[in-house]
Amino acid sequence: THNSIIKKNQAGSTSNVADYATFRAGFSWEKTAAELGGANGDFNMARIAIDRHVAAGNGATTAIRWLGVDDSTVDISYAELQKQTKRFANALASLGVAPGDKVFALSGRLPGLYVAALGTLRHGAVFSSLFSAFGPDPILTRMTIGKAKVLVTTADLYEAKVAGIRDKLPDLKHVIILREGGGSTALTDQQKADWPGTVDFDDLLAAQPESYNTAVTAATTPALLHFTSGTTGKPKGAQHVHGAIVAHYATSREVLDLKNGEVYWCTADPGWVTGVSYGLLGPLSCGATLIVDEDEFDLERWYTIVQNQKVAVWYTAPTAIRMMMKAGVEAVKPFKFTALRHMCSVGEPLNAEAVIWTQQNIGLPAHDTWWQTETGAMMIVNFAAMDIKPGSMGKAVPGIEIELADRSGGGFQIIKETDKEGEIAIKTPWPSMFVTYLNEEERYNKCFSNGYYLAGDLAKRDADGYLWFIGRADDVIKSSGHLIGPFEVESILMEHKAVAEAGVIGVPDEVAGELVKAFVSLRKGFTASEDLADEIRGHARSRLGAAVAPREIQFMDNLPRTRSGKIMRRLLKARELGLPEGDLSTLEKP
Ligand code: WT7
Repeated sequence: THNSIIKKNQAGSTSNVADYATFRAGFSWEKTAAELGGANGDFNMARIAIDRHVAAGNGATTAIRWLGVDDSTVDISYAELQKQTKRFANALASLGVAPGDKVFALSGRLPGLYVAALGTLRHGAVFSSLFSAFGPDPILTRMTIGKAKVLVTTADLYEAKVAGIRDKLPDLKHVIILREGGGSTALTDQQKADWPGTVDFDDLLAAQPESYNTAVTAATTPALLHFTSGTTGKPKGAQHVHGAIVAHYATSREVLDLKNGEVYWCTADPGWVTGVSYGLLGPLSCGATLIVDEDEFDLERWYTIVQNQKVAVWYTAPTAIRMMMKAGVEAVKPFKFTALRHMCSVGEPLNAEAVIWTQQNIGLPAHDTWWQTETGAMMIVNFAAMDIKPGSMGKAVPGIEIELADRSGGGFQIIKETDKEGEIAIKTPWPSMFVTYLNEEERYNKCFSNGYYLAGDLAKRDADGYLWFIGRADDVIKSSGHLIGPFEVESILMEHKAVAEAGVIGVPDEVAGELVKAFVSLRKGFTASEDLADEIRGHARSRLGAAVAPREIQFMDNLPRTRSGKIMRRLLKARELGLPEGDLSTLEKP
């Protein structure tokens, strides 16, 4: 795939970064922080994302254009967003929420979710957003780790997913209920009686003043908590700080190439890190107008939005691009994306064919970007002003140094040769680097060696300095760009009465990248059948939610284990895919 190169568009390029090497050489995080006014020691994300623009006279610019499922539109200007987030901050103060307390959200993409996020940051509390397609178990696990004090959600989601676990959340003091679109009304008296500590979002905000002294937060003050998964154990709460907005801002300007007042659409949900770093903070800090679509993925709707909303910059994901490819040229042909001038992608490997397809059928190549929940912001990217090698992740963003490391045998060697596989290692620190895994300092420390953060991804660097993704060094699963920890799925499967043991892997899927597949052995007295597989799948779906539950269940008499008793997911995967089984010296002989 090294042979096709898409040349940057030299003529008429208006990119914020004219030349990668020159820009990189002149870049510093300190200078960027100073541009944002952070030099005085105040990095409050709400001040940088909103107040800076209002103070500069741009309060009338639309900050968020919300598109409802019912085709209604709500425009919120920067000035209005400032007022609403001040009201929300006052509401938190009135509820006794202290700086550092955790405010969780579990909601679809409603305007109030965005107000709650920025209002929480303004107040100096910590914001954590959970994906609304999670089932009760992932919600309970994460809110327990985070000691959630406040939850912002909707009546429907509360009833379906939270009411049943409420008594297991002793730290949760207040639930703020967002009204959904389509003319629904405030909480009913019955709901208020049934759900203690529950208040209506609109009523609560209406009772608050519009003036608020925004908390002064240092670069190191906790701001955001994003959950992510590993191979083993519970999900990890990656803690991020207010100073991270310097990286959100820099990369939004340099890589997304955003300019003041430009229409920008990030299709990611705020339940994942992309939806917060680049669906909210980065682009607002650049003064852009964000499109927020309430609806789920629908290709025709998406094309219509890019066309009719005159989207200039589009940040989406490989799964979505592969859906476009699947629907084909006929589906995209009727649309004219006259305003679109830049397109980026993140979340999973962006195959060369997908880059070439967008170039040919959207009129622009998708620019791949690589990063993680832990890095908080983009790390390896394709700049607008850089030739693209389709299939490559690109190069390190300015201010970031990437090496490939060989950690075999417990050592740490930086690989100097080109085209040699190694683990992505990022020189520490950088502004959006996670500062801990909540309550798991040891797990955090294990991610670092010799002054580098080790990402757990394998890559190669070619002679031109471009980085190429090879794979994960661990067993986590990437399905539609969402990271899924096999252990979280296995634990729930094993709670089913018929299940003795479970091993969960990702199997390749042409569109989603990977799908979750479970291998299950049964307890004595149970017999494998289609009905039983359905029942176990149903159990997993009701507990984990559709986004996490396995699509496929395969029964096995015995799962391969190591001598120390761990299920060998790697072997399950190798056998499933017909690949070499590798080193089996630790396999327990049946
Ligand atoms: C993992 C991180 C980045 C924010 C959303 C995902 C995979 C991410 C790429 C890419 C190949 C990618 C990696 C990474 N990944 N971007 N451009 N090419 N793989 O954050 O959920 O923490 O997942 O996603 O494996 O480690 P996340």
